[in-house]
Amino acid sequence: MAAQPPVITVDGPSGTGKGTLCLRLAAQLGWHFLDSGVLYRLVGFLALKRGVVLDDAVALVPLAAALPVEFRPLADDLEIRLEHEDVTRAVRTEQIGDAASRVAACPPVREALLARQRAMRRAPGLVADGRDMGTVVFADAPLKIFLTASAETRAERRYKQLKGKGNDVSLTALLEDIRARDERDATRAIAPLVPAPDAEILDTTLLGIAEVTDRVMHLVRERGLA
Ligand code: DC
Repeated sequence: MAAQPPVITVDGPSGTGKGTLCLRLAAQLGWHFLDSGVLYRLVGFLALKRGVVLDDAVALVPLAAALPVEFRPLADDLEIRLEHEDVTRAVRTEQIGDAASRVAACPPVREALLARQRAMRRAPGLVADGRDMGTVVFADAPLKIFLTASAETRAERRYKQLKGKGNDVSLTALLEDIRARDERDATRAIAPLVPAPDAEILDTTLLGIAEVTDRVMHLVRERGLA
């Protein structure tokens, strides 16, 4: 069998800088980028729109299996179109993050999204952002990164990000949401948020994005991936 294109997996809780790191790695390497959280967000978004209860597996699976989504690369982000409607901003809210975390706890939903994620593994390589990229979806990846940071730092980053995009948010509410979402993601029965045993763990509480990117690029070269 021909060797599979390489994958760099980047897992960790929200607000650790995964998304920015992945975009930078993908740009520097010229590789594809998978934002798996967006898939769960889209399932949550569609479920809310159609009045589907967030733990109703029977109703959720068809939504996940046939997500009518299209991604278009922008300069430093990804445009997301669902049924031809631009939902790039609409899926990034805290309400949709919470809905995503709830549908993500449903095993058949995860199963329904597996093939779509694995299909993104194309030459010359893939940078995959999520919670279970290194443990489940790309368990054979040659480089696995797990980012951590204190909950307070992550809430502050999220606060600045959302404020910057014109959202009205409260830092205290964000911190509570982040703690609740982490707890749910880390304790669910299937594909919980845990580092793969062979993951490189990087605490980004005191590190800027440039330094995190440099450290990971060093590992990329050390492993002969670029
Ligand atoms: O990375 P994010 O904030 O966009 O992810 C939203 C939610 O989706 C997150 O709280 C948990 C879930 N998720 C998951 O369970 N597995 C993934 N690979 C990615 C996200």
